[in-house]
Amino acid sequence: MVWDEIERKLSKTSGLDPKTLGSQAIVKAVRDRMQVCGVENVTTYLDVWLCSPQELQALIEETVVPETWFFREPESFEFLRRYVLFEWLPHHQEGILRLLSVPCSTGEEPYSLAMMLLDAGLPPNRFVIDAVDISQKAQAKAKQGLYREHSFRSKNLGFRHRYFEETSQGYQLSPAVKETVNFIHGNLLEPLFLYGKPLYDIIFFRNLLIYLEPVARDRALQVLNRLLSPAGVLFVGSAEAGPMIEQRFISLRHSMTFAYRKRQKRDGSARFCVPPDEPEYSSFQVPPPNPPRSDSPGFPPQSPPPSWAEPPPEARREHPPSSQSASNTPSSPQPIPESLLMQARHLADLGQLYEAAQLCETYLSQHRTDANAYVLLGEIRQGAGQSERAEQCWEKAVYLEPYHYEALTHLLLLKESQGDLTHASTLRQRIQRLLNSQGK
Ligand SMILES: C[S@@+](CC[C@H](N)C(=O)[O-])C[C@H]1O[C@@H](n2cnc3c(N)ncnc32)[C@H](O)[C@@H]1O
Repeated sequence: MVWDEIERKLSKTSGLDPKTLGSQAIVKAVRDRMQVCGVENVTTYLDVWLCSPQELQALIEETVVPETWFFREPESFEFLRRYVLFEWLPHHQEGILRLLSVPCSTGEEPYSLAMMLLDAGLPPNRFVIDAVDISQKAQAKAKQGLYREHSFRSKNLGFRHRYFEETSQGYQLSPAVKETVNFIHGNLLEPLFLYGKPLYDIIFFRNLLIYLEPVARDRALQVLNRLLSPAGVLFVGSAEAGPMIEQRFISLRHSMTFAYRKRQKRDGSARFCVPPDEPEYSSFQVPPPNPPRSDSPGFPPQSPPPSWAEPPPEARREHPPSSQSASNTPSSPQPIPESLLMQARHLADLGQLYEAAQLCETYLSQHRTDANAYVLLGEIRQGAGQSERAEQCWEKAVYLEPYHYEALTHLLLLKESQGDLTHASTLRQRIQRLLNSQGK
C-alpha cells in the first residue's frame, strides 16, 4: 500500500513515529507536496519521491515539529550554569567546553546556551557550540537570528534586553551571540553522524526522542553515547526521562533537571578522550576528573572504583560472584536467559566486569549464535582493557551477523585507534553498504 510505503520510508530516514503526529498529518503533508509538485496521483508521487533526495527532504520538512523557545525548561540551563562554574571551570583553567545541541530546530536552544555561558563569564574563545537539525528550513531561520514573540515564552526575559535589538520585523539577536554557534545540517540517526568530531562535554538532546519510533530511539541514544565525553553530561526533555535513557546513562537525579552521565564506555571512541598520561579506566563507570566538590550542583557521590580483579579461587568456590550471578544454588529460581544479559549489562555498569563477563559467557554457552551477546562481552573486555579479546568477540559477532552495526562500529574505532587504516577503510565501506541498504 502506497501510504504504508511512504510512512515506512519516512520513518526509516528521520526516525519519526507517524503515530506521534496524529493520523492525518502525513496524509496532509503528502497532499501538500503533491500540489507543489503538480502531481495528482499518490503512486506517481511515491515514484518521484523515491528517486529524489530533494523531495525526500521536502517531505521531512513538512513532518518535523520545530516547536522550541528560548530557555525552555530553564532549570536545565541553571543546572548547567552551576556545573560550568563549580565543576568544569575549577578543573579546566584552560581548554574549551564543547557543547552540542541536537536537535536545535530554529536555534533558540543553542543560542540560550551561548547567552547563559556568556552571562556566566565564559569568554567565547572558551566554548564551542555545535547545533544540528535535520530541517534545512529551521537551520536557515536559526542562522538569521530574527525571532518573534512566541520564541520568548520563558518568565525571565532579561536576556532579551541584553542580547537582542527590537526591529520592525522582530527581535534581532546580536552578532556576538550568533557567532558562537556553528549550525550543521544533519540527521542524528546517520550512524556516522558527526563522525570524527571531538567528543562533547555537554549534549542537549531535548524533545526529539518523544517523536521517534523505538528502533530510532535506541539508535539515537547509541549515537549520543558515542559523542558524549566520559565525564560529559547529557540533558533530555522532561517528557523523555525514564528507563529507556537509563539503560545507557545514569541520572544525576536533580529536581526538574533531566541530566545524565554516561554509564559505560560503549565504544572505542571514549578511549580517545582519556588523556595519554592517565591510566585507562578499567570500568564502564567513568570517574570525574577530580572528586566532586561539596558545593557541586547535586552530583551524586561517585561509586568506588570498579575492578576486574578476579576473586581468589577459594573465594570463588565459596561465594558466587554476585547475588545476581548465573551460578545460583539449586534452590534459587533459574534466571530467564535474556535476563542474564541484562544482568550482565547491569553488573558492567556497576563496574563488576569480572562477574559481568562470567554472566555473558554463561549465556553464550547456551546461545552460541547470539551476536548481541558477543558485542556486549566485547564491550566488557574492552572496559577491562583487554582490547585483543574485545576484538575477538566483535569479530565473532560480525561472523554471525556480517552487517551487525554495533560490532562493525566497534571494530572500526578499534582499528582506527590502532592505526590500521586499511582494515578501518574496509570496515567503513561495509558500514556504508549497510546504510545504503537501509536507504540512508
Ligand atoms: C521539538 S524540536 C526540539 C528543539 C529543541 N531541542 C527544544 O527542545 O526546544 C524537534 C526538532 O527535531 C528535528 N529532527 C527531527 N528528526 C531529526 C533527526 N533525525 N535528526 C536531527 N534532527 C531531527 C526537527 O527538525 C525539529 O526541529
